[in-house]
Amino acid sequence: MNVIHLSVECYPVAKVGGLADVVGALPKYQNKLGINASVVIPWYDKPYIRDHAFDRVVSGTFNQGSATLSYEVWKQVESTLGFDLFLIKIPGFLDRSEVYGYADEGEQFIAFQHAFLDWLTISAIVPDIVHCHDYHVGLIPFLMQWGDRFHTLRTVKTVATVHNGQYQGWMNWSKGILLPAFDTWKWGLLDWDGLINPLAAAIKCSTAFTTVSEGYLKELLVEANGLQTLFASESFKGVGIVNGIDTEVWDSEKDVAIQFPFNIRNVTKGKEKNKETFCEQYKLDSRRPLLVFIGRFAYEKGADLLSEIIINLFEVKDEKISIFILGSGDSEIRDSLAPLSAKYPGYFSAYFGYDESLAHWVYASADLLLMPSRVEPCGLNQLYSLRYGTLPVVRAIGGLKDTVIDIQDPEGYGVRFAEASVESAVEGIQRAVLFSSNSAAFEKNKKRMMSLDFSWDSSAKTYIDLYNQINP
Ligand code: GLC
Repeated sequence: MNVIHLSVECYPVAKVGGLADVVGALPKYQNKLGINASVVIPWYDKPYIRDHAFDRVVSGTFNQGSATLSYEVWKQVESTLGFDLFLIKIPGFLDRSEVYGYADEGEQFIAFQHAFLDWLTISAIVPDIVHCHDYHVGLIPFLMQWGDRFHTLRTVKTVATVHNGQYQGWMNWSKGILLPAFDTWKWGLLDWDGLINPLAAAIKCSTAFTTVSEGYLKELLVEANGLQTLFASESFKGVGIVNGIDTEVWDSEKDVAIQFPFNIRNVTKGKEKNKETFCEQYKLDSRRPLLVFIGRFAYEKGADLLSEIIINLFEVKDEKISIFILGSGDSEIRDSLAPLSAKYPGYFSAYFGYDESLAHWVYASADLLLMPSRVEPCGLNQLYSLRYGTLPVVRAIGGLKDTVIDIQDPEGYGVRFAEASVESAVEGIQRAVLFSSNSAAFEKNKKRMMSLDFSWDSSAKTYIDLYNQINP
């Protein structure tokens, strides 16, 4: 079975968030299960691409509005990632250094999708499934069926995975002329509330759609940034499949990014040593429980609550803990956190930026990981945290609710709190801190967390079962 994953992120080539981790791991695990999964992403001006050899496999041109764009498809010479990686390069659009943030993002993603389809129609590759990740490639299922020049792809099955339904790629209909020519009778499939909505189009036109946890699939019926009724009417072809983690990348015993590698047997000692050197470097008191936040500074992630949570913990609750934050994004959130290191020396420290290696070391060193998300389709950080023996303290929503069982339950190993609010998060943190003071139970729980299996093995298979079901 030939499966092409189409995305704008893929770890370790181009990563902004969890989307990259999934696209960089799922195909690898699928290939281990005997199918042929490959990945197609835009070409970026990024180190991984500069440092690895790629061959040009094809070039072509197409029209976008009044412009004629030329594209090239490059294939990585050695499949070191566990799958064939293809890059599409388009001068002026797909040759940039960042994944997101350009004013003409809409045009950029249309160009990517058009080039991909053009290439497919002229190449010898016959996919059984085109698997589209998030709205950036959400027009593909529509175009494969109703694009004038893509007849040969009409019978190919498509899967659309929703990693985040908050972002939908809305475009004014004036941009419609930039799309490859399509059967205009079908324009309604692209439309939602008077705008071109690529995510809505993907849900309508894909053979099946998936969400990255079962819980999130249910939540989308209630809150989907305007698409609730669409998710409800298309729910017959929707499946929730929880993400896994790449246990080769997240292996505390072999991880080169952490100072003192450890395994389930010596987790207590290993984490203690990492914590000591980590706290020394970031000027924190290592004798106290270490609570961390790792992630994007976004409203969705509840990152705007962090500064108030910290102030409340130290000033109202008088908690004796150390807190470390690793993140980047919204500058207002950053500005709310930056002064806290001076205000709480020895108690609070932060690194503002994106640093994958540092993240590994933080998971290895921390006692508790906080995720006060407002929306969390799956969440991967809690899974990395469990794998590295760090107790997750999470808001009970979406994938967090599906993957973290509270210590109040005999089967539990983490802490859940109900609301994305300062009060609720503080309550959860205090419960976790109290639990950590019972060192026997806390140490035992580290082994329990590390023994949980959240690897891709089972979910990769569930996706393959879905492919077989829609493409018997
Ligand atoms: C998005 C979601 C996150 C999910 C990730 C990978 O980033 O916000 O919850 O884990 O995609 O599917």
